[in-house]
Amino acid sequence: MADEKKAYQPIGVFDSGFGGLTVLKELVKELPEHDFIYLGDNARAPYGSRSYETVYEYTLECVKHLFDMGCHLVVLACNTASAKALRTIQQKDLPKIAPTKRVLGVIRPTTELIGNYSKSKHVGVLGTSGTVSSGSYLVEIEKFFPDLKVYQEACPMWVPLIENNEMDNEGADFFIKKHVDHLMQQQSKIDAVILGCTHYPLILNKIKDYLPAQVAVLSQGSIVAQGLKNYLNRHPEMEMNCSKGGAVTFFTTDLSETFDNAASLFYGSAVKSNHLAL
Ligand code: DGL
Repeated sequence: MADEKKAYQPIGVFDSGFGGLTVLKELVKELPEHDFIYLGDNARAPYGSRSYETVYEYTLECVKHLFDMGCHLVVLACNTASAKALRTIQQKDLPKIAPTKRVLGVIRPTTELIGNYSKSKHVGVLGTSGTVSSGSYLVEIEKFFPDLKVYQEACPMWVPLIENNEMDNEGADFFIKKHVDHLMQQQSKIDAVILGCTHYPLILNKIKDYLPAQVAVLSQGSIVAQGLKNYLNRHPEMEMNCSKGGAVTFFTTDLSETFDNAASLFYGSAVKSNHLAL
């Protein structure tokens, strides 16, 4: 049988900065044979407090770069970008710029499951201001579990605390407790919570400490990874367009040295990135 060399067609994974690395880590665990390219737009992060127009414009630009680097499939491993840019890119841009390529987000996989974790039918979502104000979680959860009541809390201080590696200090406890309390004050019957930001797995234990013990906490990484695996099984035409060399390559729009220093915290092992000039 001829040994046909396949083109390098990695799965693109995009985030505003570091948070998507918590998703990438799980994607690589679930699909180790695949090639992946990670792109963090650190030069313009955080996205959490930016307008729709800005998040959409930045995200689309980065998606185009990933397409240029050979990706046929891109995962927006950022809730803010998934909430504010995904639909427009899927519906308006892809048909024009790349009709056979696909862009997926991270919001849907957890919203498909959250109802299975709740007996009280009251669930919570913790996210950036942008994700919360977009209402995307409310819309998506309603599609799968219309009988659930959803309560949201924006936690604008959490991403900066995590990115500055301040999360183990007392100052961080103050802000983590504050937002967890605000969520539970809205409805004490909440018994399942989605971490709607890819940074939050780094403070998962602290969030759990401040939540009542019976509350289930859904972190996105492994759920998104399982979702992508199922997607590729259901879409052999896309699976064929994803190369399998087991390579993971990192790009940042900011300084690669700075990126590498912080990235290992999110990814769980050493990272050596390349700079991408926008
Ligand atoms: N990781 C992004 C998310 O999941 C938030 C980081 C940011 O604000 O840029 O929403």
